[in-house]
Amino acid sequence: MNIVVVGTGYVGLVTGVALAHIGHRVTCVDVDEEKVKQMGRGISPIYEPGIETLMKENMEANRLFFTTDGARAYREADVIYIAVGTPENEDGSANLTYIYQAVKDIASSVTKDVIVVTKSTVPVGTNHEMQRMFQQLAPHVRIDVVSNPEFLREGSAIYDTFHGDRIVIGADDERAAAVVAHIHRPFGIPIFQTDIRSAEMIKYASNAFLATKISFINEIANICEKVGADIEQVAAGMGMDQRIGSSFLRAGIGYGGSCFPKDTKALAKIAANIDHDFELLKAVIEVNNKQQRKLIEKARERFGHIQGKKIAILGLSFKPNTDDMREAASLVIARELVAEQAIVVAYDPIAINKAKAVLPKEVIYASHVEEALKDADAAMILTEWDEFRQLDLSIYVKQMKTPIIFDGRNCYALEDVKKYAIEYYSIGRKP
Ligand code: UGA
Repeated sequence: MNIVVVGTGYVGLVTGVALAHIGHRVTCVDVDEEKVKQMGRGISPIYEPGIETLMKENMEANRLFFTTDGARAYREADVIYIAVGTPENEDGSANLTYIYQAVKDIASSVTKDVIVVTKSTVPVGTNHEMQRMFQQLAPHVRIDVVSNPEFLREGSAIYDTFHGDRIVIGADDERAAAVVAHIHRPFGIPIFQTDIRSAEMIKYASNAFLATKISFINEIANICEKVGADIEQVAAGMGMDQRIGSSFLRAGIGYGGSCFPKDTKALAKIAANIDHDFELLKAVIEVNNKQQRKLIEKARERFGHIQGKKIAILGLSFKPNTDDMREAASLVIARELVAEQAIVVAYDPIAINKAKAVLPKEVIYASHVEEALKDADAAMILTEWDEFRQLDLSIYVKQMKTPIIFDGRNCYALEDVKKYAIEYYSIGRKP
């Protein structure tokens, strides 16, 4: 099977590499020449554990190729996966410019029948619109559109691709669905076949539900702090109920990344467009916005004002094992600290380069934890990197002016912290 993947962001690159790994011939297309050159040398433009090993292995086996020549790749393709971005418009809706551009490019190049698989997250109805455009722009060939939403997580994208819970295939045409199911069968993951609109909705509903779980547990955490309960205990006790499940009950400073913030807003907008006020989802978003500022509130309560205080920020990316800064809590927190004229020294194991482009210019960067903590009035932990979780707690006492920790990710057990002269504020637990 000759497969082409359009777009080499997280989803596109991981999809391309994984499909090559299970034996298909895959060509990844991107408009960015520099990026394509880099990938051609086996260098991944995204930080993702394990991806470069798989890239090199499959390039050497002549199964994985990278090109900017979309037209040629489309002409030779049996199946084309669209994995371009659907960023957020100002009004919260999904921007489909790149999707429709890909449709036009494909339509003007293909000379034989082809199946187009949409991996990008798109509002309900988009795949049908794409189908309509293909019929209009390329009436000489048969193009079947199939929805195949992606559920991988950044940082464990390779693992998730090979060990996912389900592969969703939404299609109007049985034959096209069968071809796509056949392509994915070697993954050995259950395949859920459905209609196109339901497949599109499964993606949004899944992300919105997970975001809801996070905002819910964060609100419970906020209440726990006030009533003297411990959120870690509460989440563990709740999670034992299989109807609830134990995952996505980690309280903290809210969700970030390129998916939950964007997809929750897009779904609220989809609902609004049909005059449905999705109140629950709007509350989930609002709770998350507030939660991202939780540590600032705690610091204000503790210090009165933060002006002139030296604050060490540990962790900048929106979660561990990625250098992705999109919608990271660190953006909100660093901006607010700088606005209040605190001295901000930040450290992250891998996201510093990306952070420099998006954080306020006043932020100072440290090259290791000790340097960041040196003489600090307080530390704020924003990302639960293993490096921080496994840190010898005496380092805080040795390095800081006053060992005060505001832990936004509950990295330490309360009984461990108690052994040191550390003032410790975390989420949903007594100080
Ligand atoms: C998320 C979904 O988990 C994937 O299934 C989906 O494919 C992806 O979005 C997407 O739509 O492309 P991702 O954004 O990579 O994946 O990261 P997650 O691991 O889900 O974490 C998202 C955010 O939620 C992070 O900021 C994380 O810190 C936060 N989170 C997660 C919590 O605060 N508590 C939790 O219990 C879990």
